[in-house]
Amino acid sequence: SSSASSDVDAFLGCLSAGIPPSLINTPATNSYSSLLLSSVRNLRYILPGITKPLVIVAATEPAHVQTTVICGRRHSVRIRTRSGGHDYEGLSYASIDPHHHFAVLDLAELRAIHIDASRAEAWVGSGATLGELYYAAAAANRTFGFPAGNCPTVGVGGHLSGGGFGALSRKYGLSADNVLDAVVVDAEGRLLNRSTMGKDLFWAIRGGGGESFGVVLSWKVRLVAVPETVTVFGIRRSRNESAVDLITKWQEISPALPRDLYLRVLVQNQTATFVALFLGRCSGLVDTMRGHFPDLGMAHQDCQEMSWVNSTVFFFFGTADVPIEALLNRRNPDYYLKVKSDHVQEPIPRHAWESIWANWLEKPEAALVMLDPYGGRMGSISPSATPFPHRNYLYQLQFFSVWFENGTAALEKRLSWVRGVYKDLTPYVSKNPRAVYVNYRDLDLGTNELEGNVTSYAKARVWGERYFKGNFKRLAAVKSMVDPDDFFRNEQSIPPLPAAK
Ligand code: FDA
Repeated sequence: SSSASSDVDAFLGCLSAGIPPSLINTPATNSYSSLLLSSVRNLRYILPGITKPLVIVAATEPAHVQTTVICGRRHSVRIRTRSGGHDYEGLSYASIDPHHHFAVLDLAELRAIHIDASRAEAWVGSGATLGELYYAAAAANRTFGFPAGNCPTVGVGGHLSGGGFGALSRKYGLSADNVLDAVVVDAEGRLLNRSTMGKDLFWAIRGGGGESFGVVLSWKVRLVAVPETVTVFGIRRSRNESAVDLITKWQEISPALPRDLYLRVLVQNQTATFVALFLGRCSGLVDTMRGHFPDLGMAHQDCQEMSWVNSTVFFFFGTADVPIEALLNRRNPDYYLKVKSDHVQEPIPRHAWESIWANWLEKPEAALVMLDPYGGRMGSISPSATPFPHRNYLYQLQFFSVWFENGTAALEKRLSWVRGVYKDLTPYVSKNPRAVYVNYRDLDLGTNELEGNVTSYAKARVWGERYFKGNFKRLAAVKSMVDPDDFFRNEQSIPPLPAAK
């Protein structure tokens, strides 16, 4: 409509009063496409029919973020914040709603990392990647690590605000459990830190998803201690060998292992690969595996000893023969993606694994299935300490489907595989609610609807309690305090809590 386009013109005028024109990228500027694509991690969300941003603001200073928020509110243009662009459903740069007009605030240039080695702390810009943080921490001191995800191109901004799980989480918890302070631009355009934002907002941004509450510019994190030498292995077993038995046993063994040992499983087609990070030397790992999981048959020759930062390379590339500078590469290959995930409370019986394998895993379109153990520190933190409530499960399960072919045939095939296996697993996974981790965003769970001018709380509970359980209501209460007009919204943002009637 004409009023919408005049809003957009007024918004652009407002931006240009505070932000250099070279940082304001509209579809008419040459840089728009390359900037949009610079951190798109799911090609499904740039297909025709998907709503793209009216403008991308490539902020280089906090004031640019404040200006964008203030102008957006004044001229009714909503904002999506993008740090690393890894959202599984593209919510940081795209919308499935054809009527949703929005600007993208791209934080990739706000990625400074300052390490305070004497305190083992770091300030990290939201636009930094996990790989950049791992690299910087290790460069400051080989015995510094940080608990976060296994993919180095994931952005700090989305990851920390949604939780952040990885190979050090059994020892040190989530990334969000290790956040000490943060700088946020709120819905009024104010710059706040831990002491000025108040404890409720500081709680909400450590696992509630940042997008509902403001724009987090930077984070102060605790660096954690890792030994100078750690040990990894990757052991493959086929279905014809012992993989089904081993996975069945792994379900109870892995969450109960000592905290220094993280043992995940990756399953695809005929093969299960058991991948480990041990915070110690090979001999200690062999002893631990013999004591807890002799059936895997792990031995000295499976060990690879290395520094912790090299282990992050190993976890991503599947080999440590890649220089650690690869952690600084912000680009990923382009692919289409659909992920669904689950939490497991009781071991899935052997016969169910047999039938999952026979009915699903042998198909050519099968996803990569990732099994990540909890236990250790994960299970010793209260489910209400942060918005992330999934502390007491055995493990999480992901169906991670990646494909490269364009076209609806490939898309339909992949989606129906992921949705089909998910449906078949219903009897065996968490119930009431069937729990999902918010960083594994899944729009199949439901999308927001408006009630008056704000997102409906009653509708949002359907998906929201699956991500946050009892913490959902507190997140909505925080939203009412910090953004009662619901400026920061997307398909699955937290709604304000309606006033008690
Ligand atoms: P992106 O920029 O897309 O943002 C995600 C969401 O957070 C969006 O809604 C966005 O608006 C909001 N947001 C981003 N920055 C913000 C900011 N500064 N302030 C406020 N809101 C902000 N997870 C995990 O725990 N462990 C893992 O090992 C992995 N591995 C992994 C691999 C791959 C290939 C992918 C694609 C994803 C993962 N993830 C993961 C999931 C990942 O943690 C999740 O997608 C994060 O939200 C991504 O953060 P980005 O900043 O990259 O995303």
